[in-house]
Amino acid sequence: MKQVGIIGTGRYLPEHVVSNDDLSRLVDTSDEWIRTRTGISQRRISTGMTTSGMACEAGTAALTNAGLEPDDIDLIICATITPDYFMPSCACLVQERLGAKNAAAFDLAAACTGMIYGMVTAEQFIKSGMYENVLVIGAETLSKVLDWKDRSTCVLFGDGAGAVVMSAAKKGINLLAANLESDGSKYRLLTCPAVTLDNPFLLEQECICYDENGMSNAAEPAGTQKIVMNGQEVFKYAVRAIVDNINTLIKKTGISKDDIAYIIPHQANYRIIDQASRSAGIPIDKFFINLDRYGNTSAASIGIALDELAESGRPRRGDKVICVGFGGGMTSGAVLLEWN
Ligand code: COA
Repeated sequence: MKQVGIIGTGRYLPEHVVSNDDLSRLVDTSDEWIRTRTGISQRRISTGMTTSGMACEAGTAALTNAGLEPDDIDLIICATITPDYFMPSCACLVQERLGAKNAAAFDLAAACTGMIYGMVTAEQFIKSGMYENVLVIGAETLSKVLDWKDRSTCVLFGDGAGAVVMSAAKKGINLLAANLESDGSKYRLLTCPAVTLDNPFLLEQECICYDENGMSNAAEPAGTQKIVMNGQEVFKYAVRAIVDNINTLIKKTGISKDDIAYIIPHQANYRIIDQASRSAGIPIDKFFINLDRYGNTSAASIGIALDELAESGRPRRGDKVICVGFGGGMTSGAVLLEWN
């Protein structure tokens, strides 16, 4: 089996900074509440850039960082829950704008775990020998699916994109192990409806949907296409998901907690990371945190953080880094990386 590594990273954040004070002029909230409950001070919000536009910027940065040309890319995977279109995929739009004419391209939806799912998917294509170089991008304009009147959600999220180039080359950051999990039974904890069922044959007020008892005729609430969340349950799931995924990787690989130099968690809430750190018995200063500046950028967050960690020059050769994500679905997952 081929060794798979990350040979380039990149990110894009919209320029427009929205502070907590800015939000307190939109909804009944305060800088104090947001900072103490979440750790977020500000976020970037698109003033016109689309998801594919941001994905393209982050992808270009990652390609440059990897020293590759668009022609070298065999596959583009875009992880997003906020694509420009249902069809075409965000990945096809990126392909067109990059001029990556040799690439296959598709989108992947795993919410905030999207970057982890994307990296693991890329790893499989490379290990199997089907592809050499894969561009994995996590990109979101969450600002378009936020209810800007709902203070319990609109203060949490931001826009942005992160990208990695993965390759069979024996350089860069090696991917040593991975874990993916899903729990569809908890899907209601975090939702964003798509287009509501609408055709000339609909039975009035009736909609076939799935609930915990299986298929039923219960009427679903009309889709508002905005994010709805059970914050406290998501919080608990998130803490457990971080701890469980780290422990699973430790068990799979035989490394010890002391061997881990850095952990890049999905950037949702400082308190989630703090509780996970205590519960896992891993010091908080090993956790890379930038959510104070960007909020929760969903599928983009781990790619952005990985690029910032790489740029900081802090990791040394041989350092082991775990990226761990969780999100809607519910989904979670982690990868163990080794710096080269
Ligand atoms: N500003 C001021 N008050 C707010 C507020 C805001 N932005 N949002 C909610 N509140 C209020 C609530 O209305 C509630 O008021 P009440 O007691 O009068 O009813 C009070 O604050 C406490 O709300 P609660 O939901 O218990 O707060 P919390 O401590 O659980 O924090 C979250 C709320 C959303 C910050 C927290 O649950 C969380 O971070 N959950 C995880 C969310 C997440 O990360 N989602 C994405 C995962 S990928």
